[in-house]
Amino acid sequence: MVSQVCISCGREYSVDEIVYSCRKCGDILEIRYDYALIRERLGKSDWKSLPLSVWRYKDFMPIHNLLNVVSLNEGGTKLHHCRRLGKALGIKNLYVKNEGENPTGSFKDRGMTVGVTKAVELGTKIVACASTGNTSASLAAYAAKAGLSCVILIPSGGVAFGKLAQAIIYGAKVIQIRGNFDQALQMVLKLSEEHREIYLLNSINPYRLEGQKTIAFEICEQMNMTPPDRVIVPVGNAGNISAIWKGFTEFNKTGLIEKLPKMTGIQAEGAAPIARAIKNGKDTITPVEKPETVASAIRIGAPVSWKKALTAIKVSGGTAETVTDREILEAQKILARYEGLFVEPASASSIAGLKKLVENGEVGKDEVVVCVTTGHGLKDPDIVVKMFEKPYEVDAEISAIEKLLGCASKDIIA
Ligand code: F0G
Repeated sequence: MVSQVCISCGREYSVDEIVYSCRKCGDILEIRYDYALIRERLGKSDWKSLPLSVWRYKDFMPIHNLLNVVSLNEGGTKLHHCRRLGKALGIKNLYVKNEGENPTGSFKDRGMTVGVTKAVELGTKIVACASTGNTSASLAAYAAKAGLSCVILIPSGGVAFGKLAQAIIYGAKVIQIRGNFDQALQMVLKLSEEHREIYLLNSINPYRLEGQKTIAFEICEQMNMTPPDRVIVPVGNAGNISAIWKGFTEFNKTGLIEKLPKMTGIQAEGAAPIARAIKNGKDTITPVEKPETVASAIRIGAPVSWKKALTAIKVSGGTAETVTDREILEAQKILARYEGLFVEPASASSIAGLKKLVENGEVGKDEVVVCVTTGHGLKDPDIVVKMFEKPYEVDAEISAIEKLLGCASKDIIA
């Protein structure tokens, strides 16, 4: 009924086998279901009476027993209709799916509730990941909730402070690697292959993506089962865009939606192997050896799920774009100032990408667009304080404030 399947050679593995890549050809795996069976199950299920959340979609989850679920109440994030920002960008129907509203402040919680539940079902006691920050914050929280030990490898100096603080307070063993994310990921992969008691929860683990696909499910439901024309997603390790696409295709295969949106991936200019492959019409990526961008969450040069992401973009008829650091910070500012939504720089890349694609005519003004913003702005407050207007400082006298505001005292008192 449900199995882990290699995306290249199709070899199948049981859902209870700990395997991160195909033993025959080395490619990555995905979870596959019998969709006719899910369809049948949905007919008898109480899913529609459950609140909007990851576990509303329990019938699409590879979990044996729901009593094992490790949850912090993830999912159910708002789909904001952004009228002011849409007008400024020249888009009639712009929505933002704001994943910063999750328990630890990013979409990673959707993946971790499923991944850590699977860890519990497998009887593992130690979970691990490499991270640019959000994955580690989320894994540390869910491991704490489940009573598991947690090991985290992060690039030294490359993780925003809010995320580091989260991993520390949740009690993870935090190890800084003198190297970048891609190196940290290689090390944790090796660690989990050689020490089987350590369960890997990076997005190479297909259970993570099963949780993250619920972003698509929720978007469908929040739009009355008419998906948008386009979904724009920031891309780093490329798990999320692949997961969201999987979600849309599963709702389609089970007859819940008819059309599919164009998946559009945005990468930072200094870390854009997938966007470059799309632009150059290539079927493979060329990894970036020294990825650089202000958006530390997506500072990734060798994305693990690149093949799934290229498929999602191509099959859906979408596209990919690169954005500069300046464009990312500008987008972060306008989203905050037009809509009251404070997101971290990586998240704002979806807005920056939309702006660029509208300007160059690739996205039509009549398209219904959903931008996914992936993490909360308070994760990385340093960047705002460093890059934007500094606060004013005056003596503690009303006249000093009045002078600054350029108004007479009677105007204020009146
Ligand atoms: N946005 C944010 C805020 C992220 O933290 C990440 C990934 C992405 C976008 C990209 O998602 O990797 O699935 O393409 N952060 C990972 C981490 C790598 O370690 O927290 P992706």
